[in-house]
Amino acid sequence: MVTVDQVLGSLKKVVDPELHKDIVSMGMIKDLSINGDRVAFTLELTTPACPFNSDIERDVRNAIENLGVKDLELKVAARVMEGRAISMDELLPGVKNIIAVASGKGGVGKTTVSVNLALALAKAGAKVGLLDADIYGPSVPLMLGLKSSPEVVNNKIQPPEIEGIKVISMGFFYERSQQAGIYRGPIVSGIVKQFLTDVNWENLDYLIIDLPPGTGDAPLTLAQTIPITGILIVTTPQEVAMNVAVKALGMFNKLNVPIVGVVENMSYMRCPNCSEEVYLFGKGGGRKISEQYGIPFIGEIPLHPQIMEGSDTGRPVVISEPDSVQAHAFSKAAKVIAGRVSIIAAEMREQGQDDGRNDSGSGKQNGM
Ligand SMILES: Nc1ncnc2c1ncn2[C@@H]1O[C@H](COP(=O)(O)OP(=O)(O)O)[C@@H](O)[C@H]1O
Ligand SMILES: [Mg+2]
Repeated sequence: MVTVDQVLGSLKKVVDPELHKDIVSMGMIKDLSINGDRVAFTLELTTPACPFNSDIERDVRNAIENLGVKDLELKVAARVMEGRAISMDELLPGVKNIIAVASGKGGVGKTTVSVNLALALAKAGAKVGLLDADIYGPSVPLMLGLKSSPEVVNNKIQPPEIEGIKVISMGFFYERSQQAGIYRGPIVSGIVKQFLTDVNWENLDYLIIDLPPGTGDAPLTLAQTIPITGILIVTTPQEVAMNVAVKALGMFNKLNVPIVGVVENMSYMRCPNCSEEVYLFGKGGGRKISEQYGIPFIGEIPLHPQIMEGSDTGRPVVISEPDSVQAHAFSKAAKVIAGRVSIIAAEMREQGQDDGRNDSGSGKQNGM
């Protein structure tokens, strides 16, 4: 028979490959009980989309087996860590992490990435919301094939749901607003803040915000005034070639908001005849500039006709062709992003603890 100390001692040797801390100190072991020869506990992972979940589970099983325990009842669960300053809790109490998606200019696939990323995270089991902050050119509803007039219940807008994600977009209101004239001359950040406060998001692990395109006033102001966990930057090899990506990275990197990483969209084409990957605009540009700025590189998404078709017909590839190479590229990126967000959340927590409390002290965001 083993003791609790022995079990915890052995589990302490299992280290989360991303957070570089042992799983016992991270509080990932819950409800440990020992009953005769039977050891039971829950392993609580930091995100259902963690790329290392199966590695950690394997290491845990090995650690217990090494103690000579044959009868292990292991439950694996995931509870996404919160990565936002506590001062924002009153604003969106149920939202754990906000990921803002930005780009240097329009047309690089920011919305396509936001939509497929949201769907991939939801498929992995996370609770996900998608906020279309592109107020003047909202394309999220079209990409999701979602036509809706959100209801208002108890003064809260109910976000329409599709494929397990909650969505809000100015696109849902344009027809109505043109009739009623309510939203004429809107100030972008005012509307986006309203989308944060007046929408009934309930509990979310990740709220993805598709920021307005470019590095103009609107995206930069939003990135600074919304309680963001981190910014994800979408770029393309063409942008890299034209130095737009460098400018954008430099600008977003200067904001006092953590950067989740860089996704390179339309990186390469797979030759239909020989399956060779063709890098039309050169290979490795996105990775190179991410290194230059010390920002993690998330991955490459291929240029693929199905991705465009999926966006244009309201059936994104992650749903319409889940087993395709292009869908896998998004799912893989989603996992890397979820892992990065866990790291940022853990860092924010630590900073909060260092400061004694977590509000203004984290310095990650300003109030709204
Ligand atoms: N990886 C890709 N392969 C093929 N077409 C893509 C890809 N990413 C985006 N597109 C297409 O490029 C166009 C611009 O994408 P969009 O997501 O609207 O960009 P943004 O939001 O940055 O303006 C759309 O027609 C979309 O379908
Ligand atoms: Mg867009």
